[in-house]
Amino acid sequence: MGKNRFKGRSLTVIADFSLEERLYLFEKTRELKALLKEKNKEKLEAFRINNGDFGVYEVFLESSTRTKESFKNASEFHRVKLSNLDVSASSINKKESYADTFNTLSGYDNSVFIVRSRLEGVCRWLEKNGREFAGRNGMDVPPSFINAGDGKHEHPTQELLDEFTFLEKLNGDRSSIHIALIGDLFHGRTVHSKVQGLNVFNSVSVDLVAPPQLALPDHYQKEMEAKGYKVRVFGSIEEYLGQKEIAGIWYFTRPQLERMGDDILKIADSLRARITFKREYMDRIPSGTVFYHPLPRHKEHPTIPAFLDSTSLNGWEEQSMNGKLVRIVLLGLVSGKLGDDFKAEFEKPEEKEEPFIEEIQAGSGRTPKRYSEGVNPITNGIVIDHICRGDDEKEIREHMSRIIRVMKLFGKGGEWISSSKEKPGTMKGIIFRPGAEAPDESTIKRLAAIAPGATLNVIGNGKIVKKLRLSLPPRVYNLESMSCKNPDCISHPSHKENVLPEFTRISEDTLKCDYCEKVHTFREVWN
Ligand code: CP
Repeated sequence: MGKNRFKGRSLTVIADFSLEERLYLFEKTRELKALLKEKNKEKLEAFRINNGDFGVYEVFLESSTRTKESFKNASEFHRVKLSNLDVSASSINKKESYADTFNTLSGYDNSVFIVRSRLEGVCRWLEKNGREFAGRNGMDVPPSFINAGDGKHEHPTQELLDEFTFLEKLNGDRSSIHIALIGDLFHGRTVHSKVQGLNVFNSVSVDLVAPPQLALPDHYQKEMEAKGYKVRVFGSIEEYLGQKEIAGIWYFTRPQLERMGDDILKIADSLRARITFKREYMDRIPSGTVFYHPLPRHKEHPTIPAFLDSTSLNGWEEQSMNGKLVRIVLLGLVSGKLGDDFKAEFEKPEEKEEPFIEEIQAGSGRTPKRYSEGVNPITNGIVIDHICRGDDEKEIREHMSRIIRVMKLFGKGGEWISSSKEKPGTMKGIIFRPGAEAPDESTIKRLAAIAPGATLNVIGNGKIVKKLRLSLPPRVYNLESMSCKNPDCISHPSHKENVLPEFTRISEDTLKCDYCEKVHTFREVWN
């Protein structure tokens, strides 16, 4: 039998589990649900971790009923050691870092941490930090971190139970789904997890129903479209019901207006009205429609009013109960109890890293006619050319100042903006530094990160001795003067968690934060 691929794994975002792994988890949950229904005690034993030394630790820095209590009940099913950090009385209040807190608890033989925090990307950071801690301390298996909701970022275990529930409603048919996402799509982390989570279905139609103030952030919508989902946008339920293609699955989310400041609070009633189901809509929805909601719902202003509880629209109660089952299976997987029989059929091969610094042979050794120091051509030094090619002059000038500051290119020389020779009217920036030494490899990588698309010319004895074309590196990390600009990201300097920023390239000029997944242009990440 091979190594269990789930043991010691973390679930920080839904994409941490491949589609095949999620389908396997759903299959196990279906089996478990059937065994519980038939009260098959003997077969249920095969699902239990049954080890009083296996430690599950709940750390909830924000309120929760369903996520926290379903993990607690799932742990009781497994007969494991369950602990719960009393956050309000913990040393987090003495400004202890997350790293120190979780390292301490990992050292007390705890294997799985269920973490809810307003800080986005916290579990990704804890996973990385936990691996290093385990390595330093000779632990065989690093601790697992399960994201129980991080700010407005993701809620992957909710996503698992949502998709499991949708599949149940569709009798396991994965061919297509038509779903309406209604409510606060801006803050709704359960909605954000759906961007990836809905790929359980081969064909996806998503109707986004929210007033503009609560709309899904643009990058999530673009990601859905890039995945081939058919996306439509509506400003209210009223508007949605005014057309004919109405989804059979409605997924409501709680409006989190309290996060949006006084201007929004003034119009809270009108925003809420647009995403609240009304009695008069009853005869306008297709038969067989089912409503879901991650819950909680507001007792005074529920978007799914209580009169619907006893109707066939009520899918949210079954959905909530499925939460415990999905979480039993998830704990079983990361403990290594379940998963030995998983077979991967369609795993993607590892992608090869592309080079991002290309030496251009043509022209090497020629005399640089265009680069001048006053009236004289440069004899020795460097010239960075084609900076921000195609941008407007103001942007080019601002970014050249940034490059000079970050790369410490102070001293003799200058910078200017000129029109491209090949494409007149297209602007580009040029920085020249006569006398500057040829940069070393790590400086060139840094330059590639801040000036992708530029060329670096090294000039010696009046000739170009080296010419490099720079592209954005696939990974940008361990560099000074950069940070994620999401104030809620665990790596944001304001939180003082000492988390160095790390980014992954997602296009030729954009980077995604490895922690909170905020997308930045390459210009924005620099301080
Ligand atoms: N769905 C959900 O996360 O609910 P709780 O906030 O009660 O955990």
